[in-house]
Amino acid sequence: MRCSSLWLKSVASFALLFAIVMSARAEDGSAAWLRYAPIPHPEMYKNLPSRIFVYGDSSTDHAAGIELQRGLSSLLGRRFTLQETNGGTPPPSNAIILRTSDWMRDRIIADQNGRPIQPETYSLNWSEESKTLLIGSELPVGDLYGTFQLLEEIASQQPIPQNYISAPSAPIRWTDEWDNLNGTIERGYAGPSIFFENGHVRQDLTRAGEYARLLASIGINGCNVNNVNADLDLLTTEHLKEFARIADVFRPWGVKLALSIDLTSPQTVGGLDTFDPLDPKVIAWWQKKVDEIYTLIPDFGGFTVKADSEGRKGPSQYGRTPADAANVLARALAPHHGVVLYRGFVYNNHLDWHDLKADRARAGVDNFAYLDGKFDKNVIIQIKEGPIDFQAREPVSPLFAALRHTPEAIEVETTQEYTGQQRHMVWLPSMWKWVLDTDMRVDGKPSDVKDIVTGKIFDQPTGGFVSVVNVGIEPNWLHHPMAMANLYGYGKLAWNPDEPLEKIIDTWTRLTWGNDPQVDRTIDSMQMKSWHVYESYTGPNGMGTLTNILGYHFGPGIESAERNGWGQWFRGEKDGIGMDRTVATGTGFIGQYPKELANKYENLATCPDDLLLFFHHVPYDYKLHSGKTLVQSIYDSHYEGALAAAEYVQQWESLKDKIDPERYEKTDALFEYQAGHAIVWRDAINNWFHRISGINDAEGRVDHDPNRIEAEDMKAVGYKTVDVTPWETASGGKAVECHDAKGCTLTTTLEKPAGTYDIAVQYFDIWAGVSTYTLSVNGSTIATWKADDKLPPAQFDEHLDGQTSTRQTIRHVALKPGDVLELRGVPDLRLILFHGAQAAGLTRTSQGLQMQPNLQEYAPVDYIEIGPDGPITPQ
Ligand code: GCU
Repeated sequence: MRCSSLWLKSVASFALLFAIVMSARAEDGSAAWLRYAPIPHPEMYKNLPSRIFVYGDSSTDHAAGIELQRGLSSLLGRRFTLQETNGGTPPPSNAIILRTSDWMRDRIIADQNGRPIQPETYSLNWSEESKTLLIGSELPVGDLYGTFQLLEEIASQQPIPQNYISAPSAPIRWTDEWDNLNGTIERGYAGPSIFFENGHVRQDLTRAGEYARLLASIGINGCNVNNVNADLDLLTTEHLKEFARIADVFRPWGVKLALSIDLTSPQTVGGLDTFDPLDPKVIAWWQKKVDEIYTLIPDFGGFTVKADSEGRKGPSQYGRTPADAANVLARALAPHHGVVLYRGFVYNNHLDWHDLKADRARAGVDNFAYLDGKFDKNVIIQIKEGPIDFQAREPVSPLFAALRHTPEAIEVETTQEYTGQQRHMVWLPSMWKWVLDTDMRVDGKPSDVKDIVTGKIFDQPTGGFVSVVNVGIEPNWLHHPMAMANLYGYGKLAWNPDEPLEKIIDTWTRLTWGNDPQVDRTIDSMQMKSWHVYESYTGPNGMGTLTNILGYHFGPGIESAERNGWGQWFRGEKDGIGMDRTVATGTGFIGQYPKELANKYENLATCPDDLLLFFHHVPYDYKLHSGKTLVQSIYDSHYEGALAAAEYVQQWESLKDKIDPERYEKTDALFEYQAGHAIVWRDAINNWFHRISGINDAEGRVDHDPNRIEAEDMKAVGYKTVDVTPWETASGGKAVECHDAKGCTLTTTLEKPAGTYDIAVQYFDIWAGVSTYTLSVNGSTIATWKADDKLPPAQFDEHLDGQTSTRQTIRHVALKPGDVLELRGVPDLRLILFHGAQAAGLTRTSQGLQMQPNLQEYAPVDYIEIGPDGPITPQ
């Protein structure tokens, strides 16, 4: 092929590229699904040309070319050349070509039967005749998406698509990051912010750029980088200039920067005496501010707004509506093609729990439905998937069906706020797909949530998907290597909500862990069942997750949801349990759904078991469709769920020789933790139901643990018994603590038949303190360990409760009758943990002003469980 003078440059020597690829090989998770590990059968792609030509000179064209060269070289272990051109010459043969053109758009439109398509649509076309693979789109970012798709097909050893077209389901495919300017992240579980520190944008934005690359690889095109509870000084010129640097590192990857704003900004930043959205001064202020933003960031995406909710001020202060506020912003953004994502999460968190008609779930429709049609075209109502707050299972929000003249976006949470905080494996796309596939039966016609948010049902051009992700500075972004499948799955579903879950997880597994069939089968099946498993050992039957809603939303804390203004009630009484949301006798919430769906939920005969307690108040011995009584079903599912979580360890360990040691060990420790914590959940919920219902477990398991020795029942030297609150988060409601610097002991004489056993010590691990434990049999040490974990990873909880309870399992211990088991605990009484905290005084947290807690740790112990020697932690 003749090289014309128009060719601009050959990019990166192969040696340099190879060095880059190899240095990225440290398996710390930072490469996520873009590892480009050499595939076992590169010969499958021997016909793939080795020359890459990129037509176009934008930073995105460049990024796509480099990515393709880097990925193919690494995956296939051979040399690929890259040449970039600004056009003019006809495409060569025997090459891979990336090219944007109108010609491509026309062709794609034709292929789509003339239906309008998103400009990011791309195609992959192989011509056998010219031995050319063409990756084409109307926009450079479409070429980038096509590039990532090609690399994904090869990395997962799939045939190269011959004539393939892929169009995104909707224009809005964003992530929200709840990062604060001080570097903390609200509900983030993988370390501090990759964007901010000490009140400013980080100097080094390498991770932010790498994150944008990850997002682009799954088709995400917008990222809102700051907390919806926005810093009040966010919009100062000083900050905006800094945000422009983030936009710069996002740009090559086609990811638009967006910001959450506080509606009081005209006052807090602008110095006005009002933030009334209809005040002309306020309108002018927003216009000027938005123009300033676009001068600095020409491709700025838009604003996200949380107002009149959970303490944030909003238009109601001036008797104005959400539409009044949203439209002022929208009009300032419209000339620049920016959008407003106004959150439908508006509710009163001071509800009167005595009032049986009060219902937080009603708030979405009550606050927004009457405004349908009053929002400007570039306002999108961002609606949480369920009417409460990201629980392990909720029905879909009725607001999706109530807005017929307003664009909508569904908001889901990748960060596992209520679903195990990246300490438990929970593959959330299973839940999201269940939501997206829910048919709301608007006007008695098929109307799946996915077709509503993508604008098909009500013919809305803008709308789509938002997920709160909250990646952190830790190398693997979300702490748990398995949690990255949630981010990957989110992007795939946002691009195509009809993508089969099996395909999504299998591709993720192959890209992340390799193409070994046993590895893929095992991980796919663990992930596919993980939502169900998590749900089955946490909150049952649509009752809410039952986590401590007043604290960190991590461990069990059942009644924290009751008798307060937050409205996450489940009304557990002597006579029965569940919120009566029926039209007939309850809050009337069910009436907010379209008729057919409302009838289904209203009627006990048709209400699904898994949503029963969300909609109805029923007695504990109520017979479910499954044939079991409610309470027995709860007992059974909690034992099954905890056992399934324990089996993850065994399943994971069967892959030991097939996974790199770094990620293997980290993941193994997380599964061990989850196995123990699932038991904390199981016991808390079962014991609580046992107490409130007064109904025994037909299988005799609940409150009856023959292999368990309570710490408070052992012979104690130095250890003192303490009450644990809430009681259900410790076995027997009690634990022991040691306040003696020299340490304390617990001893017991065993009466077990001679044999080999596994011993689990259930203890509590406070964030900063590091107690030391030593377990011995007849004076010989069999294990010693330090309580130095951070549970949950993001915050400290100074209490002994369901969040700090954890376990250590010692396997294969030979025991015989008369053996003396001793547990010695040495507390961490460092004064700095106590006085340091007191001296630091009050700090501002997402829960308001709080005293720094005492972080000393008194070697607390709950119980010891001695179970059969086997692959799972003693149950
Ligand atoms: C949840 C979460 C808060 C968050 C809020 C929101 O309630 O716990 O931290 O601010 O959702 O989505 O605005």
